[in-house]
Amino acid sequence: MSVTIADRRSAELEELIGQDAAAFRILTGDRPTGPLHLGHYFGTLRNRVRLQDLGAEVFVLIADYQVLTDRDTAEHLDEYVTGLLLDYLAIGLDPARTVIFAHSAVPALNQLLLPFLSLVSVPELNRNPTVKDEIAHSRQSAVSGLMLTYPVHQAADILFCKANLVPVGQDQLPHLEITRLIARRFNERFGAPVFPVPDALLSAAPLLLGTDGIKMSKSRGNTIPLSAGADETAGLIRGAQTDAERHISYDPATRPGVSSLVLLAALCLDRDPHEMAAEIGGGGAAVLKNLLTTAVNDLLAPIRARRSEYARDLGYVRQVLRDGNERASEIASVTLSEVRAAMGMRY
Ligand code: TRP
Repeated sequence: MSVTIADRRSAELEELIGQDAAAFRILTGDRPTGPLHLGHYFGTLRNRVRLQDLGAEVFVLIADYQVLTDRDTAEHLDEYVTGLLLDYLAIGLDPARTVIFAHSAVPALNQLLLPFLSLVSVPELNRNPTVKDEIAHSRQSAVSGLMLTYPVHQAADILFCKANLVPVGQDQLPHLEITRLIARRFNERFGAPVFPVPDALLSAAPLLLGTDGIKMSKSRGNTIPLSAGADETAGLIRGAQTDAERHISYDPATRPGVSSLVLLAALCLDRDPHEMAAEIGGGGAAVLKNLLTTAVNDLLAPIRARRSEYARDLGYVRQVLRDGNERASEIASVTLSEVRAAMGMRY
């Protein structure tokens, strides 16, 4: 599906969510490869809380096996998974309403991978543009089987709970296409309507750059993590890349660094970036950075407070994950039974 069509469909879906959010079972997730940052917050995290609060059924997946697509070992897994859980709880995901789980802990989900693999061809796997891009940037000398097949595993992530809506960024659209293909092919080939064909919900993720003016990324160390303290945040913003022009303007094409800082402030304050830039104007980078530091710290203060409260009760945090894993396993077992029945494997 082209991005334009996906955009149009997403606008329709937003209307339907507004009318009856409870009709949607939503699944989305993160790879535990490092701390979540403000790019994640504005790109996807706050949207999950919004959908939960509107009354949709939300599943949040910690995609721990998927960490191993472009590296041999998953480093600091325990630390990163705990960090994700703390961030989820701190931003307002409520485990009483939202299922938070790790796919490695859900055996029946993983078993769906086998029948699903039989439904896609090797050329289809080879064509996936997101996988191609990841192979190009991989730190491994040879491509692993998981790299090529993880989009099929991702279909299992989505279809085990029969999610009908998947909020994603543009890079995930090819994966969602494979999921839709697998759902359709399964239903057709085995003559049973087991799976819904899920929609992508493209959110208008703002293009935030890192503090070095380049794409924000966990591995580049140019992010502002949700877990950063107020002083650390101030330091990161103070060191952010601007340019030689004193007058502040909002022009992402010609002034990416400065514009990204303006945009971040505008997002924190829920304001228009053009207006903000015009107000700062001749105040220059110093005024912009002061304003931005206050805006980010005000936004993050309550989140940080909740985060450190949960961090003092890691027993509870781990229980949230165990409960989520258990709930996901129950659902996955029911789906797997339907799958095996449809395939004639009822012995
Ligand atoms: N591929 C996603 C990412 O890199 C993570 C992910 C795994 C995911 N399974 C998913 C996202 C299922 C949405 C639905 O961020």
